[in-house]
Amino acid sequence: MVEQVPGKVDMDKLVSLCKRRGYIFPSSEIYGGMGACYDYGPLGVELKNNVKKAWWKAVVQERDDMVGLDASILMHPQTWVASGHVEGFADPLADCKKCKQRWRADHIKDGKCPSCGGELTEPRMFNLMFKTFVGPVEDEASVVYLRPETAQGIFVNFPNVITSTRRKLPFGIAQIGKSFRNEITTGNFIFRMREFEQMEVEYFVKPGTDEQWFKHWVEERFNWYINLGIKKENLRLRQHDKDELAHYARDCYDVEYLFPIGWSELEGIANRTDFDLKQHAKFSGKDLSYYEEETKQHFVPYVIEPSAGVDRSVLAFLADAYDEEKDKEGLRVILRLHYDLAPVKIAVLPLSRNETLLPLSKEVYNTLQKCWMVQYDDAQSIGRRYRRQDEIGTPFCVTIDFQSLEDKQVTIRDRDKMRQIRVPIEVLKSTLDAKLNGEPMEVLPSGGKKWLGFEQ
Ligand code: GAP
Repeated sequence: MVEQVPGKVDMDKLVSLCKRRGYIFPSSEIYGGMGACYDYGPLGVELKNNVKKAWWKAVVQERDDMVGLDASILMHPQTWVASGHVEGFADPLADCKKCKQRWRADHIKDGKCPSCGGELTEPRMFNLMFKTFVGPVEDEASVVYLRPETAQGIFVNFPNVITSTRRKLPFGIAQIGKSFRNEITTGNFIFRMREFEQMEVEYFVKPGTDEQWFKHWVEERFNWYINLGIKKENLRLRQHDKDELAHYARDCYDVEYLFPIGWSELEGIANRTDFDLKQHAKFSGKDLSYYEEETKQHFVPYVIEPSAGVDRSVLAFLADAYDEEKDKEGLRVILRLHYDLAPVKIAVLPLSRNETLLPLSKEVYNTLQKCWMVQYDDAQSIGRRYRRQDEIGTPFCVTIDFQSLEDKQVTIRDRDKMRQIRVPIEVLKSTLDAKLNGEPMEVLPSGGKKWLGFEQ
């Protein structure tokens, strides 16, 4: 069971829709599941890829001060000594002497086991990094860690990127990839997982300009969620108190979302100063300073780090998009996902399974499939099929009917207001392209007309 904020979409409903429609499954379910690990199904993988694509477009493609990177998950173990993770990436844990359950000691208020009220042991520090071994011998010398954040892969590649791209400050490196944490408090679906994905930027700046760039990234990142359809009232910024800041951070804002479990962190934007580059310089013995030609100065850059979770973003986009409307059949469930994020952009629906409709329907489907993720569905009534597409968030349905065979026209129906237009097949692709890029349904292509429509 998951916690629930009154008035927000019911988390259980969302979990059930995700399972039923192939968005997200519990990992290794046939074996009883694997705690805090989830698998993305056929629709989930599309949504997740679209989230990553939208992020990459905003932080790399559309900027000329950013480059990308894909570093390996296994890194030299000294990386994690330098970063402070071996020493400090730990939670205090206490065990119940009676029922043997394990708890985060800093989450316990009265010193008693929340499950049975039993006495707890003294807290012990528990490191959240997963350990494994390289090579055939399982000894201390061969220990490596699954990375708990992607950030360090960027820091250790700072000199490689500078030399290979001849970048000048300010510039940043972006990376998307898996991270692993042996989390103790789990249970809110994909909010906190043991294996998850991060989208991180390390933006290198001249010391003294860091506050201005920090402000820039806080605004950029907040607006990214809004531009992808998150409702303003469900998003806020929260500055960390001084005693809450990580040891390396001078300032930090969380972008928080009103999840079904309450206001929680979606992304953190931190001013990490020169901490990481200095630590890696110290532990590797390599010079990680930057040479500024104009002033003939060497200095260690400061770093602004916007760090987002892919899975938490997916959860926020799903929760924000979920909607229900009463209609004559009972309830219409709609995922009002931003068109860029919707897993399937278009559904091609022949009005019936009558085989005379098949060749034209398949022809339309094959043409559109070259441009977008398209579903072909001819099972059950047209009304049911529209509902099915609404529930998975498909922005547009294209229907081929008997008249289409004569006049070479088809209808387009939109998900959000169920408006319909009829357009010639020869302008179908360009019309859908315009609509997917935000052109209102009221704008008609040449030869197009409003359409009263089939059964909704
Ligand atoms: N490099 C900085 C860093 O890793 P973080 O606040 O620990 O900072 C950044 O993580 C983001 O990664 C979080 O805001 C969250 O979106 C995501 N994240 C962290 N731990 C997670 C977990 N166990 N499951 C899912 N997402 C997680």
